[in-house]
Amino acid sequence: MGFIVGIDGTAGSGKGTVTKKISNKLGLINIDTGSTYRCVALAALRENAIVDGNIDNKKIIKLLDKISIEIKNSKLGDKIYLNGEDVTTRIREKDVTQVVSPVSAIKEVRYKMVDLQRKMAEGKDVIMEGRDICTYVFPNADIKIYLDAAETERAKRRLLEMQEKGIKMTYEEVLDNIRKRDYNDKNKEIGALKLAPDSIVIDTTNMNIEEVENKIIQIIKEKRK
Ligand code: DC
Repeated sequence: MGFIVGIDGTAGSGKGTVTKKISNKLGLINIDTGSTYRCVALAALRENAIVDGNIDNKKIIKLLDKISIEIKNSKLGDKIYLNGEDVTTRIREKDVTQVVSPVSAIKEVRYKMVDLQRKMAEGKDVIMEGRDICTYVFPNADIKIYLDAAETERAKRRLLEMQEKGIKMTYEEVLDNIRKRDYNDKNKEIGALKLAPDSIVIDTTNMNIEEVENKIIQIIKEKRK
């Protein structure tokens, strides 16, 4: 088995940005598990398994056999492919973001994605971010980190990200979205966001990205000595 760093945490805690930076610096393969659920949500929207917010679980479960998902790491930016098509930016759009949480709560979707995520990591040195990495996907990960921050700070960060991407949303909308996602993420029947007893908690409210990055790198270096 390779070396596994698991990073779980709330939306907007800095997981994605920090994971990407650390993967580049330390040469670890970056597996963004959220993007696998986003691919399923996109496929579901395209196949009309979700119409006007109504989710047809049976249709989505059937769809799973027709979906192939691949992540390709590169220093210029990771790419994610759904059935061979580059959907890296498409899966970040509002329509996918709005439906991904309930899609990720479907038991069959989780089993399939967790299986895929474990295969992606097989025999490799990886850094993997998500919600259930340290509790379910890799409960024996070499390093377990839980990132969190105050919801108002996370909303500010998300709003900035949206503005940079040219997506129009108000602060109130973003905050509301964060609250809903926190609730959904923490209350899912399986794969809920939970703190593993042996995870190291980092509150990033008053930290910048470099500080979080350096702290985690220090932890990894200590462990790999
Ligand atoms: O990290 P993200 O926002 O791209 O994740 C998208 C959705 O997938 C989010 O609602 C939480 C869910 N998710 C999950 O249930 N388990 C994971 N390991 C990663 C993400």
